[in-house]
Amino acid sequence: MTAIMTPYSGVEPDAAWRDEVRRLVDQRDAVLLAHNYQLPEIQDIADFTGDSLALSRIAAESSASTIVFCGVHFMAETAKILSPGKTVLIPDERAGCSLADSITAADLRAWKAQHPDAVVVSYVNTTAEVKAETDICCTSSNAVDVVASIPADKEVLFCPDQFLGAHVKRVTGRDNIHVWAGECHVHAAINGPELAERASQDPSADLFVHPECGCATSALYLAGEGIVPAEKVKILSTGDMVKEAKATHAKSVLVATEIGMLHQLRKAAPEIDFRAVNDRASCRYMKMITPAALLRSLRENKDEVHVDPDTAARARASVQRMIEIGRPGGGE
Ligand code: 13P
Ligand code: SF4
Repeated sequence: MTAIMTPYSGVEPDAAWRDEVRRLVDQRDAVLLAHNYQLPEIQDIADFTGDSLALSRIAAESSASTIVFCGVHFMAETAKILSPGKTVLIPDERAGCSLADSITAADLRAWKAQHPDAVVVSYVNTTAEVKAETDICCTSSNAVDVVASIPADKEVLFCPDQFLGAHVKRVTGRDNIHVWAGECHVHAAINGPELAERASQDPSADLFVHPECGCATSALYLAGEGIVPAEKVKILSTGDMVKEAKATHAKSVLVATEIGMLHQLRKAAPEIDFRAVNDRASCRYMKMITPAALLRSLRENKDEVHVDPDTAARARASVQRMIEIGRPGGGE
């Protein structure tokens, strides 16, 4: 794997940096959003830190005229689709996503041609062009609700994540759902044998597993075989992991997702020992949003995210349905 170098180095995330970032955020009438996988100093300076769904909802509802999205490109693009009149900045536009790269709009059009009556559900980790070909978008926290909202006799095309798709298929019990064979390189590498070994070393630990993980099926297998008590295996989005951290009575938790997640979990429940199942599970794209890149972004009003207006108009309905479904007290 080729490492991507960032030119924005040499800035310390010290008090002067924090003051300058907050001053520029106010000056630009901006809201600063950070995904749970961002570097701890970026999470701590943000107005809101959360999962993709929560951040999309905040971006849609914010009255700020500029959204600074500390996350990856498809997240900032989603904010732009929802708020075309706002300036949306990402501190480094090269922050992509291997999962979003695993399907193109042309791939999806060809797949749809084979299943002309199917409803297309795309994970939010897709480009604006793919969203424009989609009926309903979802995130890991509402994928099951989104698929459950589709009449049972309708065929579903689910893309691009095969592990999230398998999870949705398992939970909804549908057999008329076709799943694209894409994956995230970070989550796919968190494998079943590694999880089983960690779980056997600490049998009383909870397992928090993101549904994009290659080990999600193994986690349920461990529960099914009685190797780990079923109530200890929790398949959760990053936002739901934080909620569960506050609710669990476990003394230790094994976390199967990108390691940036540990920061919010430890803040939410400092008394719990959170450990990564795979401590090499770091998303190089998320980590391109450095303190220096954020400062440059605010100083230079860069990198601005643009989405072609026609594409954005076609993508908007599917994204709006995503933010409605599974909303507490609302949605379908
Ligand atoms: P969440 O929707 O759970 O925040 O996950 C986003 C993501 O990119 C996972 O890799
Ligand atoms: Fe994409 Fe995977 Fe990084 Fe999430 S962790 S942004 S799915 S490459």
